[in-house]
Amino acid sequence: MSVSDTVVVTGGAGFIGSHVVDALLADGNRVVVIDDLSTGDARRVAADASLEVLDITDQAALTVVLDRASPNAIYHLAAQASVTVSVTDPARDCDVNVQGTLNLLEAARRCGAPVIFTSTGGALYGNRAPIPTPETFIPSPLAPYGASKWAAEAYVLTWANSSALPHAVLRLGNVYGPRQSPHGEAGVVAIFSHALWRGERARMFGHGKPTRDYIHVADVVAAMLQATGTPGTFNIATGIETSVRELYSILAGTAGSSLEPEPLPLREGELERSCMDPSLARQVLGWRARIPIADGLAQTYTGLVAEFEAREPAPTPTSEP
Ligand SMILES: NC(=O)c1ccc[n+]([C@@H]2O[C@H](COP(=O)([O-])OP(=O)(O)OC[C@H]3O[C@@H](n4cnc5c(N)ncnc54)[C@H](O)[C@@H]3O)[C@@H](O)[C@H]2O)c1
Repeated sequence: MSVSDTVVVTGGAGFIGSHVVDALLADGNRVVVIDDLSTGDARRVAADASLEVLDITDQAALTVVLDRASPNAIYHLAAQASVTVSVTDPARDCDVNVQGTLNLLEAARRCGAPVIFTSTGGALYGNRAPIPTPETFIPSPLAPYGASKWAAEAYVLTWANSSALPHAVLRLGNVYGPRQSPHGEAGVVAIFSHALWRGERARMFGHGKPTRDYIHVADVVAAMLQATGTPGTFNIATGIETSVRELYSILAGTAGSSLEPEPLPLREGELERSCMDPSLARQVLGWRARIPIADGLAQTYTGLVAEFEAREPAPTPTSEP
């Protein structure tokens, strides 16, 4: 399905959502962003989109905005996306990720709009999953964040059946790219890039051994657009395992730094390996990740440094790089 006219992006002031907004605008859509700006930043939202600042757990406010927008498609990225917060405040995690998603599904049913829901791979599949993990593996989340995303997936699929709408669930790998914050708990590419730019030693948990399936945000955006109107649950990943040590080496090479990171033990509850099988998305959506990690990291480092330079005092000339 090709999207047109009005679309809604929840979480459109966030890292991934803001790129989705840009792509939808470039395709000629009218874009309404719904975001409570809890971790998002209004400056990320393109001027051509309209921003509605509201919390998706507020069903009445959400209903008013969605009824007024009457969208053709809803890209649902708003979430409590921190694993740590999900452990310290599982009730809020559940409110936003489960109840908020349910509110959205009800509003989508009234508008007759398909939902493209962003779930997660690693946090869902857990440590016992085969590598690369297929969608058929029964999830075994390690933290409330994985549990709330899994519960939300179940609602999305149930509402797809009961309302006969082609909702899609996309289980994303570890997404990286420009606009990712270096100040969150995740986003290791942004965190390493920031440390390298400042000439500071980065902390490398698990002594650099844990692996992840890193995917560039532009590939994720393409998957979201291609999944519009196609029901199902899809891994959106590269199928390639990259260790944190390898990732650091590529970034340090790009930054021209020989600074060694500080090796630390794996944090409690952290995954050792994560890599997903993307073949279903290839077969059904005709989608595959196109950006090789070395190219994606080099482009991301350059983009992130431009953002750091615009917002922070430059690092002292004596420090690396
Ligand atoms: N970044 C990744 O590697 C990754 C991996 C797997 C899944 N995801 C999922 O992709 C989506 C986007 O992630 P991101 O990395 O861009 O995170 P992000 O924190 O940058 O974006 C989330 C956005 O949702 C907004 N939001 C949070 N709670 C809200 C609420 N109650 N009401 C309205 N808006 C709310 C935030 O302000 C923010 O703008 C999330 O659903 C996340 O779980 C991300």
